Amino acid sequence: MTQEITVFGKTFVPFIDRHKIQQRISEIASQINQDYEGEEPLLIGILNGSFIFAADLFRALTINASISFVKLASYKGTTSTGNVVTAIGLDENLQGRHVIIVEDIIDTGKTLSAFIPEIYQRGPASVKIATFLTKPSALKYDVKADYTAFEIENKFVLGYGLDYDGIGRNIPDLYQLK
Ligand code: IMP
Ligand code: MG
Repeated sequence: MTQEITVFGKTFVPFIDRHKIQQRISEIASQINQDYEGEEPLLIGILNGSFIFAADLFRALTINASISFVKLASYKGTTSTGNVVTAIGLDENLQGRHVIIVEDIIDTGKTLSAFIPEIYQRGPASVKIATFLTKPSALKYDVKADYTAFEIENKFVLGYGLDYDGIGRNIPDLYQLK
Protein backbone atom coordinates (compact mmCIF):
# COMPACT_ATOMS: atom_id res chain seq x y z
CA MET A 1 0.00 0.00 0.00
CA THR A 2 1.33 3.37 -1.05
CA GLN A 3 1.82 5.67 1.93
CA GLU A 4 -0.22 8.68 0.90
CA ILE A 5 -2.34 9.60 -2.10
CA THR A 6 -3.24 13.13 -3.15
CA VAL A 7 -6.43 13.77 -5.14
CA PHE A 8 -7.47 17.32 -6.04
CA GLY A 9 -5.21 18.67 -3.32
CA LYS A 10 -6.61 16.43 -0.58
CA THR A 11 -4.40 13.87 1.14
CA PHE A 12 -5.57 10.35 1.81
CA VAL A 13 -3.83 7.79 4.04
CA PRO A 14 -4.00 3.96 3.98
CA PHE A 15 -7.02 2.65 5.88
CA ILE A 16 -8.07 -0.92 4.99
CA ASP A 17 -5.81 -3.04 2.78
CA ARG A 18 -6.93 -5.33 -0.04
CA HIS A 19 -6.24 -8.56 1.86
CA LYS A 20 -8.41 -7.55 4.78
CA ILE A 21 -11.13 -6.49 2.33
CA GLN A 22 -11.07 -9.87 0.58
CA GLN A 23 -11.08 -11.70 3.90
CA ARG A 24 -14.25 -9.88 5.03
CA ILE A 25 -15.89 -10.47 1.66
CA SER A 26 -15.38 -14.22 1.94
CA GLU A 27 -16.92 -14.12 5.43
CA ILE A 28 -19.98 -12.27 4.13
CA ALA A 29 -20.21 -14.59 1.12
CA SER A 30 -20.21 -17.64 3.41
CA GLN A 31 -23.03 -16.10 5.40
CA ILE A 32 -25.04 -15.41 2.23
CA ASN A 33 -24.35 -18.93 0.93
CA GLN A 34 -25.81 -20.28 4.18
CA ASP A 35 -28.76 -17.89 4.38
CA TYR A 36 -29.82 -18.51 0.76
CA GLU A 37 -29.06 -22.22 0.53
CA GLY A 38 -31.31 -23.76 -2.15
CA GLU A 39 -32.43 -20.30 -3.31
CA GLU A 40 -31.42 -18.30 -6.36
CA PRO A 41 -31.12 -14.70 -5.15
CA LEU A 42 -30.74 -11.73 -7.45
CA LEU A 43 -28.05 -9.23 -6.49
CA ILE A 44 -28.76 -5.67 -7.60
CA GLY A 45 -25.66 -3.49 -7.56
CA ILE A 46 -26.06 0.26 -7.42
CA LEU A 47 -23.79 2.01 -9.89
CA ASN A 48 -21.24 3.42 -10.00
CA GLY A 49 -19.69 2.88 -6.57
CA SER A 50 -20.67 -0.74 -5.91
CA PHE A 51 -19.31 -2.39 -9.03
CA ILE A 52 -16.02 -3.59 -7.55
CA PHE A 53 -17.49 -4.83 -4.26
CA ALA A 54 -20.40 -6.44 -6.17
CA ALA A 55 -17.98 -8.26 -8.49
CA ASP A 56 -15.86 -9.61 -5.64
CA LEU A 57 -18.86 -10.59 -3.52
CA PHE A 58 -20.59 -12.23 -6.48
CA ARG A 59 -17.51 -14.29 -7.36
CA ALA A 60 -17.25 -15.49 -3.77
CA LEU A 61 -20.79 -16.93 -3.82
CA THR A 62 -21.26 -20.65 -4.48
CA ILE A 63 -25.08 -20.60 -4.70
CA ASN A 64 -26.86 -20.00 -8.02
CA ALA A 65 -27.06 -16.24 -7.78
CA SER A 66 -27.75 -13.73 -10.55
CA ILE A 67 -26.60 -10.14 -10.76
CA SER A 68 -27.91 -6.96 -12.32
CA PHE A 69 -26.99 -3.30 -11.95
CA VAL A 70 -28.99 -0.08 -11.71
CA LYS A 71 -28.11 3.53 -11.88
CA LEU A 72 -30.13 5.85 -9.68
CA ALA A 73 -31.21 9.24 -10.92
CA SER A 74 -32.68 11.59 -8.34
CA TYR A 75 -34.82 14.58 -9.13
CA LYS A 76 -36.87 16.98 -7.03
CA GLY A 77 -40.42 15.81 -6.51
CA THR A 78 -43.24 18.29 -7.01
CA THR A 79 -44.32 17.91 -3.38
CA SER A 80 -42.45 18.58 -0.17
CA THR A 81 -41.47 14.92 0.03
CA GLY A 82 -38.13 15.89 -1.44
CA ASN A 83 -36.05 13.87 -3.86
CA VAL A 84 -37.55 11.06 -5.88
CA VAL A 85 -35.29 8.30 -7.08
CA THR A 86 -35.72 6.42 -10.34
CA ALA A 87 -33.85 3.26 -11.13
CA ILE A 88 -32.43 3.23 -14.64
CA GLY A 89 -31.85 -0.17 -16.20
CA LEU A 90 -33.85 -2.29 -13.78
CA ASP A 91 -35.51 -4.50 -16.40
CA GLU A 92 -35.50 -7.71 -14.32
CA ASN A 93 -38.80 -9.21 -13.20
CA LEU A 94 -38.57 -9.11 -9.40
CA GLN A 95 -41.85 -10.92 -8.74
CA GLY A 96 -41.16 -13.62 -6.14
CA ARG A 97 -37.38 -13.09 -6.28
CA HIS A 98 -35.06 -12.91 -3.30
CA VAL A 99 -33.28 -9.59 -3.84
CA ILE A 100 -29.98 -8.53 -2.32
CA ILE A 101 -29.19 -4.87 -2.91
CA VAL A 102 -25.45 -4.23 -3.11
CA GLU A 103 -24.16 -0.78 -2.16
CA ASP A 104 -20.68 0.67 -1.73
CA ILE A 105 -21.46 2.73 1.36
CA ILE A 106 -24.43 3.72 3.48
CA ASP A 107 -23.66 7.24 4.60
CA THR A 108 -26.85 9.14 5.51
CA GLY A 109 -28.97 6.31 4.09
CA LYS A 110 -30.82 8.71 1.81
CA THR A 111 -30.10 6.84 -1.42
CA LEU A 112 -31.29 3.47 -0.16
CA SER A 113 -34.29 4.80 1.74
CA ALA A 114 -35.55 6.22 -1.57
CA PHE A 115 -34.66 3.16 -3.62
CA ILE A 116 -35.97 0.33 -1.42
CA PRO A 117 -39.70 1.22 -1.79
CA GLU A 118 -39.21 0.99 -5.56
CA ILE A 119 -37.94 -2.55 -5.14
CA TYR A 120 -40.84 -3.55 -2.86
CA GLN A 121 -43.32 -2.23 -5.41
CA ARG A 122 -42.13 -4.90 -7.82
CA GLY A 123 -43.26 -7.77 -5.60
CA PRO A 124 -40.03 -9.51 -4.51
CA ALA A 125 -40.15 -12.45 -2.08
CA SER A 126 -37.59 -10.71 0.15
CA VAL A 127 -35.18 -7.78 0.16
CA LYS A 128 -31.85 -7.57 1.98
CA ILE A 129 -28.97 -5.12 1.80
CA ALA A 130 -25.27 -5.91 1.50
CA THR A 131 -22.94 -2.94 1.82
CA PHE A 132 -19.18 -2.65 1.74
CA LEU A 133 -19.18 0.20 4.28
CA THR A 134 -21.49 1.90 6.76
CA LYS A 135 -20.90 5.13 8.65
CA PRO A 136 -23.25 4.61 11.63
CA SER A 137 -22.70 8.11 13.04
CA ALA A 138 -23.72 9.72 9.71
CA LEU A 139 -26.99 7.77 9.37
CA LYS A 140 -30.08 9.98 9.11
CA TYR A 141 -32.61 7.68 7.43
CA ASP A 142 -34.15 4.43 8.56
CA VAL A 143 -31.94 2.02 6.63
CA LYS A 144 -30.30 -1.07 8.06
CA ALA A 145 -27.84 -3.29 6.23
CA ASP A 146 -28.10 -7.06 6.63
CA TYR A 147 -24.51 -7.67 5.56
CA THR A 148 -21.78 -5.10 6.23
CA ALA A 149 -18.10 -5.59 5.48
CA PHE A 150 -16.86 -2.69 7.64
CA GLU A 151 -18.40 -0.10 9.95
CA ILE A 152 -16.27 3.03 9.79
CA GLU A 153 -16.14 6.43 11.44
CA ASN A 154 -17.61 9.47 9.71
CA LYS A 155 -14.61 10.39 7.56
CA PHE A 156 -14.43 10.51 3.76
CA VAL A 157 -12.92 7.41 2.16
CA LEU A 158 -11.54 6.63 -1.29
CA GLY A 159 -10.67 3.51 -3.29
CA TYR A 160 -12.15 0.07 -3.92
CA GLY A 161 -14.93 1.57 -6.05
CA LEU A 162 -15.40 4.75 -4.03
CA ASP A 163 -14.46 8.02 -5.65
CA TYR A 164 -13.69 11.63 -4.95
CA ASP A 165 -15.20 13.57 -7.88
CA GLY A 166 -14.79 10.57 -10.16
CA ILE A 167 -11.21 9.78 -9.18
CA GLY A 168 -9.88 6.90 -7.09
CA ARG A 169 -12.31 4.07 -7.82
CA ASN A 170 -9.53 1.90 -9.27
CA ILE A 171 -7.33 2.01 -6.17
CA PRO A 172 -7.32 -1.59 -4.82
CA ASP A 173 -7.10 -0.60 -1.13
CA LEU A 174 -9.29 1.74 0.91
CA TYR A 175 -7.88 5.15 1.88
CA GLN A 176 -9.19 7.70 4.36
CA LEU A 177 -9.03 11.49 4.27
CA LYS A 178 -6.08 12.59 6.39
P1 IMP B 1 -26.19 8.25 1.29
O1 IMP B 1 -27.32 8.36 0.33
O2 IMP B 1 -26.00 9.48 2.12
O3 IMP B 1 -26.23 6.99 2.13
O4 IMP B 1 -24.87 8.24 0.42
C1 IMP B 1 -24.48 7.15 -0.26
C2 IMP B 1 -23.59 7.55 -1.41
O5 IMP B 1 -22.75 8.69 -1.14
C3 IMP B 1 -22.64 6.41 -1.69
O6 IMP B 1 -23.24 5.48 -2.59
C4 IMP B 1 -21.43 7.11 -2.24
O7 IMP B 1 -21.55 7.26 -3.64
C5 IMP B 1 -21.43 8.47 -1.59
N1 IMP B 1 -20.49 8.52 -0.43
C6 IMP B 1 -20.82 8.65 0.86
N2 IMP B 1 -19.74 8.67 1.66
C7 IMP B 1 -18.66 8.54 0.83
C8 IMP B 1 -17.22 8.47 1.08
O8 IMP B 1 -16.71 8.54 2.20
N3 IMP B 1 -16.45 8.32 -0.04
C9 IMP B 1 -16.97 8.25 -1.31
N4 IMP B 1 -18.30 8.29 -1.57
C10 IMP B 1 -19.14 8.44 -0.51
MG1 MG C 1 -22.91 5.23 -4.73
